[in-house]
Amino acid sequence: EDIPSLAAAFADYFPIGAAIEPAQTGGLKAELLKKHVNMLVAENVMKMDAIQPSEGIFKWDNADRIVKFAKENGMALRFHTLVWHSQVGQWFFKDADGQPMVDETDPDKMKRNKELLLERLDTHVRTIVERYKDDIRDWDVVNEVIEPGDPDGMRASEWYKITGTDFIATAFKAAREAGGPDARLYINDYGTDNPGKRDRLYELVKGLLDQGVPIDGVGHQTHIDVYGPTIASIIDSMKKFAELGLDNQVTELDMSLYRWNDESDYGDQIPDHVLKAQADRYGQLFDALKANKEIVSAVVLWGISDDHTWLNGFPVTRTNAPLLFDRQYQAKEAFWAVVDPS
Ligand code: XIL
Repeated sequence: EDIPSLAAAFADYFPIGAAIEPAQTGGLKAELLKKHVNMLVAENVMKMDAIQPSEGIFKWDNADRIVKFAKENGMALRFHTLVWHSQVGQWFFKDADGQPMVDETDPDKMKRNKELLLERLDTHVRTIVERYKDDIRDWDVVNEVIEPGDPDGMRASEWYKITGTDFIATAFKAAREAGGPDARLYINDYGTDNPGKRDRLYELVKGLLDQGVPIDGVGHQTHIDVYGPTIASIIDSMKKFAELGLDNQVTELDMSLYRWNDESDYGDQIPDHVLKAQADRYGQLFDALKANKEIVSAVVLWGISDDHTWLNGFPVTRTNAPLLFDRQYQAKEAFWAVVDPS
């Protein structure tokens, strides 16, 4: 097909990436990716439970397939993610006796557990970063640690309950030591446009930077929908972090046709006006990112075509179409709005 390459259209601005699964390194999907993106991220296979499902057992095969595909095709890679509260082996949070580490009734035990947990985390991070440091520059070091509804605005994960914010410092320091000065280390989260969340993230990052924790940038997931948030609020948040001397990356971009909890479902009859609204907003977002290219170093979509997206059937049962290519791998109106803004 004679359509322009997405990545080529942004060559003067930033790399364009997509999340993929190992199976997508072959066949027509691979061809679509090769033409349109110059950066990849693993949608699942580099997560904690995939790489270290039990203590000391590291599974590299799936991650290696994506690294190999990227290298063969001259694509950059982002690593997602060294630490997260989700998709993590539950063995991390069991003590030497197999008991849960979280035990509010026994502070001494919690303290011993803290050391053990941080040691496990340090090993996890170093082992991975050492393996891939020559192939991967950008790392999501921690994912989704802010939760304005939880105490202190920090997500009440096992990581946080057992170590406070020390797990964040430990992970960034281990990543820097193993990855060296060229590794680019990100704190990644969703809803970073939301002022409450943004400000809590800012406060956390500023505090960590003041303590010498090596953070290079903020990853903005950018799972948005056709209704919001405003493009201005997304850019404002990036500007705020740039004032701290930080880089920004758009790490998981997609644009749902629905509000998050809306139970309506267009099925395969998506109204034209919805696709048009999606195209307009995609166009506006990319225009704004281009205009702010000094503070944005990559834009990564969470998938490439609507047949494969975490938003089909999640968080409610419905068919979604949040990406730039349709289920037949054809460019959508949104693609043209992004590549060829009028
Ligand atoms: C999602 C994947 O796309 C799904 O396949 C998986 O079942 C769950 O995780 N924020 C993140 C990503 O940081 O890791 C999530 O990816 C989407 C939300």
